[in-house]
Amino acid sequence: MKAAPDMTRFFHPVLPARQLGKTPVCIEIGERRYVLFRDQHGRAAALDDACPHRQAPLSKGFVRSDGRLACPYHGWNFDAFGHGRSPAQPTLTHCDTIAYQLVENYGYLWLAAKQTSISALTKLGWDGFEFAGSFSTLFKAPLHVALDNFSEDEHLPSVHSSLGWDEGGLSQVSFKAETFSERTEVHYQGPQRRSPWLPFLGVKAGDQFHNDWITRFDPVHAVFTMFWVEPKTGRQRPLITRTAIFMVPETSSRTRFHTFVFFKIANKSLLHQFVPVVRWALLQAGRRELAADASFIVNVADTPLELEGMHLGKFDKPVIHNRRLLQSIYYGGKGET
Ligand code: FES
Ligand SMILES: [Fe+2]
Repeated sequence: MKAAPDMTRFFHPVLPARQLGKTPVCIEIGERRYVLFRDQHGRAAALDDACPHRQAPLSKGFVRSDGRLACPYHGWNFDAFGHGRSPAQPTLTHCDTIAYQLVENYGYLWLAAKQTSISALTKLGWDGFEFAGSFSTLFKAPLHVALDNFSEDEHLPSVHSSLGWDEGGLSQVSFKAETFSERTEVHYQGPQRRSPWLPFLGVKAGDQFHNDWITRFDPVHAVFTMFWVEPKTGRQRPLITRTAIFMVPETSSRTRFHTFVFFKIANKSLLHQFVPVVRWALLQAGRRELAADASFIVNVADTPLELEGMHLGKFDKPVIHNRRLLQSIYYGGKGET
């Protein structure tokens, strides 16, 4: 196995902030474990999850009344900056461990190395868009396999039951992909199939469904913009959704997705009176679609990193480019963990 690059050079979303209470939590990025905890002021902090003494997991320890995280083995304890003390040898000076940045953004805690500039935090939120909510989904597959799934819409009829077109509509789908040195841009449009969610979103079966997305690798995430057009009049339906999906490789066989859903409703639309319903429908539908991908992905989890031998079609152009950028940008050209 090649040496794993340091993933903490990027800010990754790792946990909904409300899930970090008094008990320390272990999270993983790229086969490395980090412990999250809150000190006596409620401030969220992150340290390496291996005690510098003899590597016991600090996440199995507890937060003392003075806000220091205590190791469960011999009680060495640490503040939010990683400054350590040994109760048995108070004069010992090599007790410190590595501390990380942990910032809250859109209800999630985002982790990065201390030296990573805060300006590297991915900007979410766009003019006129409202935040609907967020959720996480576990993909039991390596990052490259999970990313492949979010690089094409050819699988919509087979894997999904509501999103976009069914098999009958597939031949009417138009598709364009543009590849750049740091991103991939993809545009799909095709007939929207029937779905129980459509009335809640002001959409009708037969509308032209547009799915445009941009994938970047600092860290790996894709931002999908979806909207619908009424085919007879060419008028756009009032709802536009924008969904940012972050793909965090916890281990070489497990990827955690963190999804942030936004939406915008056109001025003067009746849909403004039903914003709570729109928000609810978007989150429910989003969770289901991600769950559909996650439940299928286990079947292709062993797909190799090399694409040789695969009979690729036109829809796979972004798959190829994303795999390249995954290696060169996210893994820093050093190979996958
Ligand atoms: S291993 Fe943590 S105090 Fe000994
Ligand atoms: Fe999918």
